[in-house]
Amino acid sequence: MSILSVNNVSYRYKKGDRMALNGVTCEFEAGKVAAVVGPSGSGKTTLLSILAGLDRPSAGSVILNGADLSAKDLDQYRREDVSVIFQAFQLFPLLTVMENVCYPMELLGAAQKEAKAKAGELLRKVGIGEEKWKRYPANLSGGEQQRVAIARSMASGAQVLLADEPTGNLDGENSRNVVALLSRLAHEENYCVVIVTHDPAIADASDTVYRMADGVLTRER
Ligand SMILES: Nc1ncnc2c1ncn2[C@@H]1O[C@H](COP(=O)(O)OP(=O)(O)OP(=O)(O)O)[C@@H](O)[C@H]1O
Ligand SMILES: [Mg+2]
Repeated sequence: MSILSVNNVSYRYKKGDRMALNGVTCEFEAGKVAAVVGPSGSGKTTLLSILAGLDRPSAGSVILNGADLSAKDLDQYRREDVSVIFQAFQLFPLLTVMENVCYPMELLGAAQKEAKAKAGELLRKVGIGEEKWKRYPANLSGGEQQRVAIARSMASGAQVLLADEPTGNLDGENSRNVVALLSRLAHEENYCVVIVTHDPAIADASDTVYRMADGVLTRER
């Protein structure tokens, strides 16, 4: 079932001399991992930003569960419907692991006690044991930080997880762990996962592969 669909979307940056996205059409499904590959500067991050509701398309539409984003409040969409995982993890350095994962739930008005219980559950799910919950992100390995970031992205309850080069700062083994985790979340917990990547191994392990070239997206398989 398609949860997010992109219809003929084009995008031009205010200072851009050409279209960063040109008539992009694609569908993303719950329970599936989609990879978006393509050369540097081809428009992958731009597409992810549109999917993430960070900006609106110059033309075309994005539909989430049948509802056009143009009629939605994007702040609310970003809080509730989608979650973004970055290459550089982007955890809050002055908050502990536990506080980082609680943050999106508190933003949505959850009581501290419930947020903590849920955060603990999510951290266990991504393989971060209790002994690490009071640490600051700087005192974790890169792979651990990325798994905390994934737990945080699940904390909002969003069904769509968007990841921009999530393994770009990780070594081989940590990359494999993060990819396995994202696949598990899609296949076992029905998340819709979209991964922008340069890594052929991630593309191979994905259910669907799209290729971006000069702002034009084609489905590879
Ligand atoms: N803020 C901006 N203002 C103007 N042009 C931009 C801006 N951000 C990106 N671009 C341009 O839009 C195009 C697509 O950029 P984008 O960041 O989406 O590429 P990408 O595929 O993610 O590349 P990479 O693999 O290097 O991350 C590029 O030509 C880029 O120079
Ligand atoms: Mg990019």
